Amino acid sequence: MLKIAIQKSGRLYEDSIKLFKECGIELNNGNKQLKSVAYNFPVEVYFFRDDDIPQYVYDGVADIGIVGENVILEKGKDIEIIYRLGFGRCRLSIAVPKSMTYNTVNDLEGLKIATSYYSLVQKFLAEKNVNAEIHEISGSVEIAPGIGLADASCDLVSSGSKLFTNGLKEVEVGLRSEAVLCTNKNLSTENKGILEKLLL
Ligand code: PRP
Ligand code: ZN
Repeated sequence: MLKIAIQKSGRLYEDSIKLFKECGIELNNGNKQLKSVAYNFPVEVYFFRDDDIPQYVYDGVADIGIVGENVILEKGKDIEIIYRLGFGRCRLSIAVPKSMTYNTVNDLEGLKIATSYYSLVQKFLAEKNVNAEIHEISGSVEIAPGIGLADASCDLVSSGSKLFTNGLKEVEVGLRSEAVLCTNKNLSTENKGILEKLLL
């Protein structure tokens, strides 16, 4: 059995399930169980929080996973990205209040940036030679500037509606991301065989 980790609920869930369907893989009743075995293909699907997927694939709890590339890069786990899936497209962007004058990346100097992507923001700031304070929070990042918790936010942007409703404007794109298929680096020969069939 090849063990596959996918998101339990959220933006990647539906498309991940759809992908199995399109491959002709029939799963029994979905994410309520947190684990599902296919009827007609040697795979078992585990439903996890997306943030945990790189760790589980690295540890071998799952052999492969479907997750946003942004999560893999943030976690820095030594796993392999073997296929870009073309859904879940988004960008990790820095946003500031609409009223703020913003010309260059240097305008971030000395600001406090709220994000759940500490490592990626740190890397971005270092590359741009900007000193700013990173305030790590795990969610609702876009409200941080409006409630005085931070001066700016750095979060995923897809349609941009979250930014809009929070009175923010996107000023820097840190990285572009999409859902990818990742694998543990030490798959057994048997599982490599199943993976090849799956990719086909
Ligand atoms: C993500 C992200 C943004 C929002 C951006 O959150 O954290 O808040 O989507 O999307 P938009 O540009 O289309 O508005 P999500 O809704 O996935 O929930 P989460 O914060 O629980 O991950
Ligand atoms: Zn998440």
